[in-house]
Amino acid sequence: MKLRNMIMSAAATVSMPLMAWNGSVLISTPNTSMLLHADEGSDLRFAYYGERIDESEIHQIHDAWDGLNKEAYPAFGKKIYEPSALQVVHADGNMTLDLEVKNVETTTESDATVTVVTLADKVYPFTVKLNYRAYNDIDLIESWATYSHNEKKDVVLQRFDSFQMPIRQNDVWISHLYGSWAAECAVATEQLMPGVKVISNIDGARNGHLSHPEVMISLDGKPQENSGRVYGAVLCWSGNFKLRFHTDFRDVHKFFIGMNDEASAYHLARGEVFETPRVALTYSNHGMGEVSRNYHRWAREKGNVYNGGKLHDVLLNSWEGVYYDVYEPKMDEMMRDFASIGGEMFVMDDGWFGDKYRRTDDRKALGDWVVDTQKLPNGIQGLINTATKYGLKFGIWIEPEALHIKSELYEKHPDWVLNVKGRDLNLGRGDGEVLLDLCNPEVQDFIYNMVDTLLTNYPGIAYIKWDANVELKNYGSSYLPADKQSHIYIDYHRGLADVLKRIRAAHPDVVMQACGGGGGRASYGVMPYFDEFWVSDNTDALQRIFMQWGTSYFYPSNAMAQHVSASPNHQTGRVVPLKFRFDVAMTGRLGMEMQPGTMSKEEREYASKTIAEYKQIRPVVQQGNLYRLVSPFDGKGLASLMYTDDRADRAVVFAYRMANFNNMLIPRLRLAGLDPDKTYEFHELSVPVGSKPSHIDGKRIKGAILMDTGFEVPFEREYSSRVYELKAVN
Ligand code: DGJ
Repeated sequence: MKLRNMIMSAAATVSMPLMAWNGSVLISTPNTSMLLHADEGSDLRFAYYGERIDESEIHQIHDAWDGLNKEAYPAFGKKIYEPSALQVVHADGNMTLDLEVKNVETTTESDATVTVVTLADKVYPFTVKLNYRAYNDIDLIESWATYSHNEKKDVVLQRFDSFQMPIRQNDVWISHLYGSWAAECAVATEQLMPGVKVISNIDGARNGHLSHPEVMISLDGKPQENSGRVYGAVLCWSGNFKLRFHTDFRDVHKFFIGMNDEASAYHLARGEVFETPRVALTYSNHGMGEVSRNYHRWAREKGNVYNGGKLHDVLLNSWEGVYYDVYEPKMDEMMRDFASIGGEMFVMDDGWFGDKYRRTDDRKALGDWVVDTQKLPNGIQGLINTATKYGLKFGIWIEPEALHIKSELYEKHPDWVLNVKGRDLNLGRGDGEVLLDLCNPEVQDFIYNMVDTLLTNYPGIAYIKWDANVELKNYGSSYLPADKQSHIYIDYHRGLADVLKRIRAAHPDVVMQACGGGGGRASYGVMPYFDEFWVSDNTDALQRIFMQWGTSYFYPSNAMAQHVSASPNHQTGRVVPLKFRFDVAMTGRLGMEMQPGTMSKEEREYASKTIAEYKQIRPVVQQGNLYRLVSPFDGKGLASLMYTDDRADRAVVFAYRMANFNNMLIPRLRLAGLDPDKTYEFHELSVPVGSKPSHIDGKRIKGAILMDTGFEVPFEREYSSRVYELKAVN
């Protein structure tokens, strides 16, 4: 069928008359539209992504832009002097593609419309499908590519980006996350300059420690929180990634996003389908804040964080309280003390397993998932019974993807680890940790069975902390054949996803945390299977303000595990008040990471009262709309953020004094996201025992005033903080 003179519209909320305009494909969400130009027999063109337009305005975009549109998915072959999204080697050695539009189809899902543009090579039987899922209740479009062919032998995929977008040059800035272990998710903001900007990762196992596969692209100069046109792009992939911005003398920055092609040539057999990960795209002309809120909603409501609509328990994790000393009496004591201040879940971290080798430190036993009866004479069930006695749920730590070479598992199955034939193993944590070969279905079964057995034998386990502490250090699989060794980086993560899908099918109600040796698994590649992730192994409240701020660019608060730990902090040595530590942790899923019995009587009283208050504000914090008010990265000595519910009837405001110098000006705090016409009553929360709430407690102030002129937040000194709940009273 000729596509010329046809409109394909994916605006499911609009009943659209088919009217003629030249092969345009309009993909729309409530407030945004993406416009492609798909003429049968020509290449696919990317014309527009921005504010929503309707069919009658398509030609106006073309008129206004003087027809400037670029190839939507450039493949290596035609313009070989320009960067490409896809590069292949055909069975006969030919390295080029020349793709033309064959077909455009749309299907309707309950909350979205999916548009599929089929392209095929003009000579070779090689097909590319470009998929676009446009939600009709969130400004979010998911895009991904699928490849298949009918050539005589394998086609080798050399590059396989999920998406490409040309972005008009004009003072364009990008904001992305970078960091390291214990310092994850700092925000990097930079202007796109001539040359190639690459954001990539080659850890192999985790992709959240260093750079992140998420970016915001501000089109109107330096990024602003509440103004300016901003694109967001998020790659839903847990493995290596590459984001590229090619800037040259042409009119556009070319933005590519997908799995990393490094050492990853992929052999695609005849009839086999290769699907790239999804890219979640959003656009707003109200700054980065709205881009973040779009992602938060998409994460919670569209299955991109498992059980994203559920409220999470306040939990205590044993790690920083006792490290490997998970002896039963200590566990019992922690549970008792935590229950007494209102805790809801107790999680036993690393150290509980090992028989021949005992997990007394990180130098052995990983992989031997049997209870260490010297530490836990009554086993896991004994702990579950104690938790139940105190009215707590129970959770447990595992690290299923790895083993330590000093383990019974390694002695039995040395071929189950990723290893390079003829070479010594490169060893990770504890001088012996290596990854299991998740490309191997036998290994996938082992991991699935281990988790399944644990959860089946102990139905009282309500929570799993799934850790991942080692990079992919040995690039070799005893399972994959010689010509498919280059599949390891990709097949590892496909294997992991398969295992996680099976676990979720069998155990849908268990809460699971993705931990990657800190924040390494803050990744939309795995979050469809996990309820939350561990933000960082650094629990220092001051540094957490920065890390949590960056994480919130793309991830919702209910997915962010944030724990109050001891002072001095174990990672930085910083001494900060318990209130400050609580106030920082309370902006996400609140927990503790210490022995609560070490708190003084006053501190316990304060913690108990504050946990009770957190439970009251939990629906607003965990499911609300985030407004970032003052960035810690701005160096004002102040950081502040707030949440509102959907009707703006309730809000919770957090403010932190991060530095104190004489003469330092602390600005008045202007709120956001309130209803200007509603009047709000202030209730100060998290007030230390013996202290009085500040002047504003109990006062009633109109939303318009709070957003226009703001209010004074009294801070005494460095590390003082305030939490206010606001309730609409009219
Ligand atoms: C790394 C995690 O991030 C920590 O929270 C803790 O679980 C340790 N691993 C245990 O080995």
